[in-house]
Amino acid sequence: MAFTLTVNGKESSVDVPADMPLLWVIRDVLNLKGTKFGCGIGQCGACTVHLNGRAVRSCQTLASSAANARITTLEGLSADGSHPLQLAWQDIDVPQCGYCQAGQIMSAAALLATTPKPTDTDIDRAMNGNLCRCGTYLRIREAIHRAAGQSSNPVQTAQAGR
Ligand code: FES
Ligand code: FES
Repeated sequence: MAFTLTVNGKESSVDVPADMPLLWVIRDVLNLKGTKFGCGIGQCGACTVHLNGRAVRSCQTLASSAANARITTLEGLSADGSHPLQLAWQDIDVPQCGYCQAGQIMSAAALLATTPKPTDTDIDRAMNGNLCRCGTYLRIREAIHRAAGQSSNPVQTAQAGR
């Protein structure tokens, strides 16, 4: 079935089954490899993209349901890696193995779009569904604060231990 998808501001016509997960359209049809496959069942967040600015799990989003939406992947955050979150991620050296980090950044970007100065609680709530097997949660929180132009609260950060 043919759909027109708007990904990172660019319209593409794709001919895929209507029930194909958006994740596979993005990776295998449009060849945008920033979005990762983790669990495939909506539990890890590695596949997070934006649908009309909202963070969604692309492994649980049907291609047909994305046809009239604005889709943004990691590649669409900035042309040159200069999004404040990408810079903060580099400054703080957040990633360990890196596998979860595209999804983490996409969830963080959706948070900052609606909550420009998030508290630790806002961050924990927004990032709750993004798992990191390497345990980079505290650096992720610090990077989100930095991107938001805040410094993290060292007491709260030390107590966080997710
Ligand atoms: S791959 Fe989609 S939530 Fe894990
Ligand atoms: S950095 Fe390894 S899973 Fe998050």
